[in-house]
Amino acid sequence: MTDTFPAFKISPNVYWVGVIDWSLRDFHGYSALRGTTYNAYLIMAEKITLIDTVKASFKDELLARINSVVPPDKIDYIVSDHSEMDHTGALPEIIKIVRPDKVFASTNGVKALSEHFQLDQELTAVKDGERISLGNTDLAFYETKMLHWPDSMFTFLNQDGILFSQDAFGMHLATSQRFADQIAESIMLEEGSKYFANILLPYSNLVTNLLEKVGKLDLNIQIIAPDHGPIWRKNFTHILELYSRWAEQKPTRKAVVAYATMWESTALMARAIAEGLTDGGAIVKLMALSADHRSDVATELLDAGALLVGSPTINGNIFPTMADLLYYIKGLKPKNLCGAAFGSYGWSGEAVAQMNSLLQEMKVELVSEGIKSRYVPIKEALEECYSLGLKVAKRLKEFCGG
Ligand code: FEO
Repeated sequence: MTDTFPAFKISPNVYWVGVIDWSLRDFHGYSALRGTTYNAYLIMAEKITLIDTVKASFKDELLARINSVVPPDKIDYIVSDHSEMDHTGALPEIIKIVRPDKVFASTNGVKALSEHFQLDQELTAVKDGERISLGNTDLAFYETKMLHWPDSMFTFLNQDGILFSQDAFGMHLATSQRFADQIAESIMLEEGSKYFANILLPYSNLVTNLLEKVGKLDLNIQIIAPDHGPIWRKNFTHILELYSRWAEQKPTRKAVVAYATMWESTALMARAIAEGLTDGGAIVKLMALSADHRSDVATELLDAGALLVGSPTINGNIFPTMADLLYYIKGLKPKNLCGAAFGSYGWSGEAVAQMNSLLQEMKVELVSEGIKSRYVPIKEALEECYSLGLKVAKRLKEFCGG
């Protein structure tokens, strides 16, 4: 009889035993429109080892995939590379069932797991660079602190040259194919950049340092196996190059104009600004927050040089969807942006000043003090918006050269 949930062999000694979450659409505020996977890996060494687990609700599927290779109670070791609950939710129950000899995590990982769960097992902390023997091969651990949690680490399996990279180099993408080279390049780029922009962007400097560190380790990497999305073999240097580029956040002549609107007045201003930007030579991405998700705006900012934000004033405040966007993006700490704020108002008009403050907190270079337009923008107001577009395009040209 065949197994309903079989494991998938990714190398001579390693199986993928994760789950595909086809229906996920929101990942703590990030729109995951193609679902995701929670990848876990089973190493069939003399000491059988499980790398990471899955979300609590998928525990049985994880166990079924393991069982298609080996009875779960034959597992000797569990390694937890990252304590966030999409990879550890099932861990307490798995420990009860497997009764492993050891559960390894980084020093911070041991603390984090102890603070998340009441575990029936003592945890073993491993240091940066430490190796453990699996009998016929070994595992090496490398801390990747704050990529993207304090506990995060990579695990390297010498025998098969696999770097288990937890969230790094991953993406939210549910597919029946397990390898990146089986999936369309355009989808990989779209979802990979979205993942970087929404999860790793605040730690861009650390990404650059990590890529250098991994390069210096000179590991014989054959496969990069992340905890989400497809596995990188053959062409994995491509994702390393993309990470290097995304971490740099080098601005291009692209301007993102994001706006909220009540009665289309701020929308009209946004459209006039977009015309000025275009005529000034910028590439424009106009994003209405009624249609575009905050996480898609964040993704567009990855290679942008300008961010312009528009909101009407409502009850003395920024419109809720724009407030949501600005606070979300502020947390992601995008770099190398110039920009401006604009918006319509009726009688008080505080939103533009409030958006300016937030842009300044984000270290966005303000190209203008902003434009306010009462009720409905008339010809002069739209001309002012068009001129702002031209001005930002000119600054972008200076900013980016060319
Ligand atoms: Fe996929 Fe940070 O957890």
